[in-house]
Amino acid sequence: MATLSVNGHFALLLIWIGIWLSECNDIGPSLDDDLLSPYPYGHSHGPSHSHRHVRDCQSVVHGNVTHQTWPASNHTGVPVAESKVFISDVPGTTRWVTGHITVVHDPLRTVSVLEPGGPGGCGMNQREVVEETARAGSCLYAQNGGFFDTRTGECLGNLVSDGVQVRDSKGLQNAQFGIRRDGTLVFGYLSEEDVQEEANPFVQLVSGVVWLLRNSQVYINQSIQAECDTTQETGNFRHFVDVVSARTAVGHDEEGKLILFHIDGQTDHRGMNLWEVADFLKGQGVINAINLDGGGSSTYVANGSLASYPSDHCVSNPMWRCPRRVSTILCVHQPQCQPEDCSGHGTCINGHCQCQEGWSGTGCDTLVCQPPACGAHGVCTQDGCACDAGWRGKNCSQECPLGLYGLDCGQKCQCQDMCPCDPVTGSCNALFQGEKNQSIHRGMEPPVTPPPTQSTSSCSN
Ligand SMILES: *[C@@H]1O[C@H](CO)[C@@H](O)[C@H](O)[C@H]1NC(C)=O
Ligand SMILES: *[C@@H]1O[C@H](CO)[C@@H](O)[C@H](O)[C@H]1NC(C)=O
Ligand SMILES: *[C@@H]1O[C@H](CO)[C@@H](O)[C@H](O)[C@H]1NC(C)=O
Ligand SMILES: *[C@@H]1O[C@H](CO)[C@@H](O)[C@H](O)[C@H]1NC(C)=O
Ligand SMILES: *[C@@H]1O[C@H](CO)[C@@H](O)[C@H](O)[C@H]1NC(C)=O
Ligand SMILES: *[C@@H]1O[C@H](CO)[C@@H](O)[C@H](O)[C@H]1NC(C)=O
Repeated sequence: MATLSVNGHFALLLIWIGIWLSECNDIGPSLDDDLLSPYPYGHSHGPSHSHRHVRDCQSVVHGNVTHQTWPASNHTGVPVAESKVFISDVPGTTRWVTGHITVVHDPLRTVSVLEPGGPGGCGMNQREVVEETARAGSCLYAQNGGFFDTRTGECLGNLVSDGVQVRDSKGLQNAQFGIRRDGTLVFGYLSEEDVQEEANPFVQLVSGVVWLLRNSQVYINQSIQAECDTTQETGNFRHFVDVVSARTAVGHDEEGKLILFHIDGQTDHRGMNLWEVADFLKGQGVINAINLDGGGSSTYVANGSLASYPSDHCVSNPMWRCPRRVSTILCVHQPQCQPEDCSGHGTCINGHCQCQEGWSGTGCDTLVCQPPACGAHGVCTQDGCACDAGWRGKNCSQECPLGLYGLDCGQKCQCQDMCPCDPVTGSCNALFQGEKNQSIHRGMEPPVTPPPTQSTSSCSN
């Protein structure tokens, strides 16, 4: 079931998480590298280039387009995502790295950018461990998301979480990842107009630092130009790119599946530099990707909990510090609806469509029935038409077949000579229309038991 193609340059081992975790005590949330930041301390953090700068400085082959878009896969089957541990050597080095790749099949409905600790977390400059935000958000998988000010906790860059615009970077530029309402995946640099577009707004949007892959090409040097503030800071920014460390990234493949990437590490010792991350992702068939981070640590959570990892490693292994409180996270959860997912026949409440009467299905797109649909011989219920005795069919338009009568045509006629009976009552006088009509006119009950004798001819009348 290992579906990812293996890059020839990386000796890559993909192992199912469940198997790996039960056998290995050596992997866990990675380190707290709190000095790894593209922005120097003592300066204002975050992007400071205008969108115009980015647009004017990029290669002419991109015209005036500063981001890439791709339709998201909308495969709704189960599981929601597949996540694998990998162990790989890094080409040209003696380094081995461990990390996770998570492939998400329906990003629009199952991926959210979550504020630290829950909605409103950015407004309070909150910081929280990934595990806790993931638990509150019922995430199946989660990892660090956007950048933040490591001193104040302020969330940085553009931020849209489940359709709510939390922050606007005012057009200042860092690499972005977003999902628009129609499922379009967006990677790159966005003008304020792009962010504010109302026709097809962002439902998720987060800011990273460094656009790693653009159209399957490594785009790091261009990112340094686009994102790095001043010449004086370039050294710092280059160091951020070049240094081996724990990393997280997000990208997409040819089919529009979202690829979450996490690599364990410690600055200057273990992990990957961003060139290696870009090469690795490219080898996995990733087309566009940006680097995400959380102040230098990278944490990966499965099934909403770090509990699947050895819980005491923070303490027992002096190489590792305990998971750090970070800002936003990327969360993969069970499908949630968007208002338009309910097909106009229901309301999206708490991520699930509540269907109007007569409609069913997760998207309220299956017509159970509508009152007129059951005709004169049935009533519409949540489970479809409930037919009167003597009638059947999806819309109660068919009489019971000869020889059967009653509710759901569930009873056999008891008439002699296999004569048919009244489809409603089972009366064996059914075919004597005149007689039946008379009995009704007289207000008499039709006979419950067949009359003692009946000729064959009366039956075939
Ligand atoms: C997460 O849950 C799924 C389904 O219950 C299970 O198959 C998978 O092994 C779990 N992953 C981890 C890392 O516990
Ligand atoms: C971008 O370029 C296209 C054609 O090259 C042009 O039609 C469009 O107006 C330009 N947009 C901006 C914002 O300059
Ligand atoms: C899934 O995507 C395809 C192609 O992009 C589109 O035609 C289809 O309407 C989408 N289905 C849903 C349920 O969104
Ligand atoms: C990136 O820039 C550096 C320094 O300017 C240069 O040495 C390197 O070849 C460039 N890499 C790519 C892939 O363009
Ligand atoms: C009932 O269903 C049949 C086909 O199954 C269809 O021809 C007929 O128009 C339907 N009647 C109503 C009232 O919807
Ligand atoms: C008996 O009733 C049916 C409809 O219920 C009607 O079509 C038919 O003409 C009636 N026959 C007589 C003899 O009254």
